[in-house]
Amino acid sequence: MRTPYIAGNWKMNMTPSEGAKYAAELRKAVEDAKADVKVMVAPPFVTIPAVVEALKGSSIIVAAQNMANHTSGAYTGEVAPAMLKDLGVNTVILGHSERRSYYAESDEFINSKVLLAIQEGMDVVLCVGETLEEREAGKLEEVLSRQIKVGLKDVSADQMSHITIAYEPVWAIGTGKTATPEDADSAHAFIRDTVKDLYNNDIAENLIIQYGGSVKANNVKALMAKENIDGALVGGASLSVDLFLPIITFDK
Ligand code: PGA
Repeated sequence: MRTPYIAGNWKMNMTPSEGAKYAAELRKAVEDAKADVKVMVAPPFVTIPAVVEALKGSSIIVAAQNMANHTSGAYTGEVAPAMLKDLGVNTVILGHSERRSYYAESDEFINSKVLLAIQEGMDVVLCVGETLEEREAGKLEEVLSRQIKVGLKDVSADQMSHITIAYEPVWAIGTGKTATPEDADSAHAFIRDTVKDLYNNDIAENLIIQYGGSVKANNVKALMAKENIDGALVGGASLSVDLFLPIITFDK
């Protein structure tokens, strides 16, 4: 049984005071809803402390959107795993397509962060997904396979319980275009098969694979009904409790 995992990626939105207000509202809404769902929010770094404080004692996970690939030192502008853990943050999103495309993060670089996060005992949401150009050129499987194989290089079978994969077709992010549930499910099935080949059947069956890309209240149910879709990584619609709560309570 894979517990549904619904995550909100705030991207570069929400000041500390806005984040604290939102978190208090979300906490109450999630407690009242009693949904049997794992919920995560990923605020910008500077907003994390205010959100952690507002969610103290709640089951909502606070994650970071990125992290350095070094433990400390002369890396201006970077944030180390120990700094996150000191705040109580044990989960990090890595390899988001915006990091890949705007900040030129390669699969190898992302892999170095994945390995460091795991070494530090953290959980990782590893994002993968193809661009429209790659999809139209028939390269979907080639791209996913490379992103997964390189992204998870040297991650052991024992460490795979710390990994969640988010499939986010780049052309569906922030565009209002969602993959059809069938297309998303077949990409998820391919990801699960790839993980099965790399590890084993049990690991592949237990792997949580989130879908991301314009997830909204009106499409989440059809997506989550698919066999291989175990959760959602939500950008725009996670920025207000009114929009995010119906996604969390998709099966109510
Ligand atoms: P979106 O973003 O829901 O706004 O499309 C998803 C993401 O990038 O994680």
